Amino acid sequence: MSELNRRDFVVAAGAVVAAACACCSCESALAAEAPTSAPSASSSGPIDVGTKADYPKDGTIFDKLTKSNRVIVVRNEGKIYAINSTCTHKNCAVKDKNGEIVCPCHGSKYSLYGTAIKGPAKGSLFRYGIALNDKGRIIVDKSKQFPEKQWDDAGASISAT
Ligand code: FES
Repeated sequence: MSELNRRDFVVAAGAVVAAACACCSCESALAAEAPTSAPSASSSGPIDVGTKADYPKDGTIFDKLTKSNRVIVVRNEGKIYAINSTCTHKNCAVKDKNGEIVCPCHGSKYSLYGTAIKGPAKGSLFRYGIALNDKGRIIVDKSKQFPEKQWDDAGASISAT
């Protein structure tokens, strides 16, 4: 190996280690928040997140699917909606912490609507499509996405009552 190649190798190896460490900090933080239970779900396709009875009052946050499916379901102001739980800062999975949506990686906080209220994250979390099926099950449709300006659109939330 020539001197130049050896130097290039050391630089490249350092970059790989740095990237792995950056990733590890997120992964180790996420490992501590692994869901303990979850309704039937997969990482793609429709996701069953229970019934309206599972969201008995405003302020209910269901975050058991935040790591596996990147979804948090919230009941707020009489509506139930599904928030994409990927932090807009560096993509860690946000979670419920004492009734707040927080990112374990760098401390960002989001309102129950999904708007960033404490940095470093700045952008809001988009929502997924949500509907009630004929069996009374709440189904999240990840193929439909609603950015903040579309949160009032049909399909972005359901009535909680
Ligand atoms: S990844 Fe969420 S605050 Fe940095």
